[in-house]
Amino acid sequence: MTMAMTRLMMLAPALLILGCGQGEISYARDIQPVFDSYCVSCHAGSGEGAEISEYLMTDYENVMKGTKHGAMVVAGSRMSSSLYLIVAGKTAPEIHMPPHTDESFAEGRGYELSPDTIEKIGLWIDQGARNN
Ligand code: HEC
Repeated sequence: MTMAMTRLMMLAPALLILGCGQGEISYARDIQPVFDSYCVSCHAGSGEGAEISEYLMTDYENVMKGTKHGAMVVAGSRMSSSLYLIVAGKTAPEIHMPPHTDESFAEGRGYELSPDTIEKIGLWIDQGARNN
């Protein structure tokens, strides 16, 4: 096999992903702003999410570091990533994020993510969860 062919075969999966019409997700442009608006109120400093799960969502390094129990993002696979499953409502209702409790909504600390935003998070993970 020629070098050129080997290169092409390695490129193919990446091109397929980019070719799906979804475009490339940028962490800085598309993802951290969502976390800043919807998650950081509880997942930073003395917020309850930071205190109970020790999950800080203030920047890429912390998001990838995960909770005291381990990583929440598995690069390349949204379905293996607790962070995705939790925001997409694929877990037990008690651990949906942002928390779907009356108190958190009433206190203005919980806002549901739109399907579009949830899909962006999924795509970001599937595309390798990069700090791009
Ligand atoms: C109103 C406060 C609040 C907001 C807003 C919030 N969280 Fe949380 N989060 C919590 C609390 C409290 C826990 C700990 C739950 C527990 O372990 O019982 C938690 C835990 C988590 C965990 C760890 C779950 C586990 O199994 O250990 C993840 C992942 C998470 N949150 C993601 C998010 C994401 C993503 C957002 C934004 C879309 C978000 N959270 C918004 C309060 C919040």
